[in-house]
Amino acid sequence: MRINWSSCRQLVSTQDLLHIGHVRGFHISTRQLTNSALPRHQEANKEDRLITDEWTNITSTIERLTHRKLLSNPAHPLSILTDIIFSKFPEHEYTRANFPNPRVSVYENFESLNITSDHVSRSKTDTYYLNKDHVLRTHTSAHQVESFRHHPTPGFLIAADVYRRDEIDKTHYPAFHQMEGGRWWSPQGTSSVKELVAKINEDAAKIPVSEIKIIDDTLPFHDGNPKQDGQHPEVCIAVTNHLKRTLEMVVGDIFENIVGDPSVPKEPLQIRWIDATFPFTSPSWEMEVYWQGDWLELFGCGVTQQRVFDRAGYPERVGWAFGLGLERLAMVLFGIPDIRLFWSEDPRFVEQFTPGVVTSFKPFSKYPGTYRDFAFWLKEGTIPEEFHDNDVMDIVREAAVDLVESVKLIDKFTHPNTKRNSLCYRVLFQSMERTLHNDEINVLQDSIRDRLEKMFGVELR
Ligand code: DAH
Repeated sequence: MRINWSSCRQLVSTQDLLHIGHVRGFHISTRQLTNSALPRHQEANKEDRLITDEWTNITSTIERLTHRKLLSNPAHPLSILTDIIFSKFPEHEYTRANFPNPRVSVYENFESLNITSDHVSRSKTDTYYLNKDHVLRTHTSAHQVESFRHHPTPGFLIAADVYRRDEIDKTHYPAFHQMEGGRWWSPQGTSSVKELVAKINEDAAKIPVSEIKIIDDTLPFHDGNPKQDGQHPEVCIAVTNHLKRTLEMVVGDIFENIVGDPSVPKEPLQIRWIDATFPFTSPSWEMEVYWQGDWLELFGCGVTQQRVFDRAGYPERVGWAFGLGLERLAMVLFGIPDIRLFWSEDPRFVEQFTPGVVTSFKPFSKYPGTYRDFAFWLKEGTIPEEFHDNDVMDIVREAAVDLVESVKLIDKFTHPNTKRNSLCYRVLFQSMERTLHNDEINVLQDSIRDRLEKMFGVELR
């Protein structure tokens, strides 16, 4: 699920330049947009999103997930966590923005954030494309430009569902949730760098100081994690300080007040900052928290790239942004052992939780699983590297929806004489809710075999 962001080049495309002009053109009228309104260019493209082409790879299973809207149930653990985090940010300073539609343009998801067309995250094997111009958002950052453009407050917060083609196991699912936050300052009204820095520092001084142990060996900026050209070093340092204090306060509050697994002794909370790379921030960091024996990566964040503010129509602004994966944090806080449980409609899961309260998950019995192997010869001339695991994942998921515990490549070989390549995947069928019968698994197995043959022209063995 992790994207290696460091292989990004950064450039401003002609489309960006056009976009900046366009945005400025109707800036006044779009100010009236409410939080829940769709971004303007999404609205314009509503029809276009329905057109399929050779890029389309969204499956009906994933399409169904887009309608589940887990965050609209206040008693769902992901909503409980979201509400707790939101409550740490002053409402007059941070607008809670709602982007219910996960279908966004390629521009919003990638280009508006300096993610160039050669970046791995844009490949069809990693992203669900509706068509060549539209995707299911792969991160909430897709709404950064829009949010920096419209909100009446200097900060915003978003929580939403995001989608990435990925393996299936206890900690990975093709749909998950993220939170995004941003905060900006404008030098307008301040006549000098000194005044701007003083304003940011004044805001930072209002953030409650966290008691937790913080390990920060990072430099404010350096060649490997540079400040942006044209940004005054003191401004960069002040923005960074506000960002780090904000996230430390949030994490300190959440972890200090949460029970966790009562069988594990509570240790003093520690967090650490490490350098990172994102195409839309510089300098950039990740924050990790030490929790019950492991460093858990929480936030990706940094000083927002000036080009993001340019695209939002406010080139004079400076600020920061962060992104946070909600599932992993919710799994830790509620003691939920498997990411698929978040999607469960079993009353034994759904009825356990109460809005506003973090309670320890009470496990219910797991039903036995059954393995089946799928071995096949690839079409002549296809090498295993051209056949992506995610293609198998989607076929299996399409046929068996949530009855699959895991899919693993267990064997790969080339026939010594014919030179044909063979692959074997092992699928574990298991339900969270009941025991699966052999007859039922046989039907699923046949359907998967059928699809493998039809879609990839493989020869089953
Ligand atoms: N969008 C990033 C991801 O999904 C996370 C992230 C990193 C968001 C840095 C941010 C940011 O806003 O500033 O991996």
